Amino acid sequence: MKNFHYSIPTEIFFGKGQIQVLGKEIKKYGTRVLLTYGGGSIKRIGLYDEVANILKEHNIDFWELSGIEPNPRIDSVREGVKIIRENEIDFILAVGGGSTIDCSKAIAASYYYDGDPWDLVIRKAKVVDALPLGTVLTLAATGSEMDKGAVITNPETNQKLSFGHISMAPKFSILDPTYTFSVPKIQTAAGVADIMSHTFENYFTLEDGAYLQNRFAEAILKTCIKYGRLALDEPDNYEARANIMWASSWAINGLLSYGKDTNWSVHDIEHELSAFYDITHGIGLAILTPVWMEYVLDDERVDRFVEYGVNVWDIDRSKDKYEIARLAIEKTRDFFKSLEIPMSLREVGIKEEDLEKMAKAAIDNNNGKKIGNFKPLGYEDILNIYRKAY
Ligand code: NZQ
Ligand code: ZN
Repeated sequence: MKNFHYSIPTEIFFGKGQIQVLGKEIKKYGTRVLLTYGGGSIKRIGLYDEVANILKEHNIDFWELSGIEPNPRIDSVREGVKIIRENEIDFILAVGGGSTIDCSKAIAASYYYDGDPWDLVIRKAKVVDALPLGTVLTLAATGSEMDKGAVITNPETNQKLSFGHISMAPKFSILDPTYTFSVPKIQTAAGVADIMSHTFENYFTLEDGAYLQNRFAEAILKTCIKYGRLALDEPDNYEARANIMWASSWAINGLLSYGKDTNWSVHDIEHELSAFYDITHGIGLAILTPVWMEYVLDDERVDRFVEYGVNVWDIDRSKDKYEIARLAIEKTRDFFKSLEIPMSLREVGIKEEDLEKMAKAAIDNNNGKKIGNFKPLGYEDILNIYRKAY
């Protein structure tokens, strides 16, 4: 196991009714708030009114940035910074899914930078600090509620890139599973696929002695498998929504990657799909993951697939190694299918003639270097994976 510094600074308030802490928590940091949200789901579920009333009761003034897009865009970040500067805002409250939270993190960091926010995303300039941010999560998927990263899209350059800094981690997040009862089937499925993908990215590493972290990862995968379909069938099943929500936070907050040499693969090649076609992140991951698994499976990597098959899918350990690995991959694909996710790039509207362009962009956005370290992927590898997933 490698050395690490454990630090997860976000306070979590988990469970029904935890919104009651909101006013008191915000007041630790400020009284002039930018409330950020997406296309209106928080109004439909009554959460907007609940939040607005709490802010008023606590004499907290607030301004709004609404309409934040899924795959949030740099223009929304620019708009948010403008509102903050014009109104001397001292706290950001993001109410929504990963897109709203990511956009808010980017706004928080851009406040301390005089140039264009896109410079921070492309790492032309460094993040030095961020305004304090709190979140009320409404969709279990990205883990943005408990991590320091943000993913922002620039439609003009067809780029979707991640960046992060410890100051961008939320000061607190309110995780009330009842707010996720209204998440539509396809977003619920995409969320589960995203959580599983974060876990896979941290789990599939070359032997590293991080036995404990790998067992944590398997527990998260088993949780997604146990409750994923149930959340689709019974959207207001509290136990299912609660377990998926907590899994989302722990898949990416550091728990699984501390002490390991992780360098992600599938996420980097999925981001091109969302950048070029604005598709839902988790759907792209579900399509690519089983294909990626088949592509990287070889003698050096088969043992981790055996652990995965035996510990997560309860496959009989006495079988041949490759049989276990292939069965585990098949079960992964079948599971995503059972969540009613379309399982090919063709089905989500991607054009075959763009595959080369996207493979090239993936490498370009990685500074010309191969992607991932479980099995580093070059241009030809990525193109092959896209083609097999087509
Ligand atoms: O915009 P509204 O009206 O709120 O509707 C949203 C949106 O249409 C809807 N929704 C959210 N909560 C709902 C709801 N609908 C009904 N009831 C509710 N309670 O769901 C749709 C998708 O929302 P979005 O926030 O885009 O989804 P998600 O949480 O999956 O976020 C995806 C974004 O996060 C990035 C992705 O790349 C993508 O841009 N990621 C962020 C990461 C991070 N910060 O660490 C890591 C991830 O790997 C990921 O890349
Ligand atoms: Zn993800």
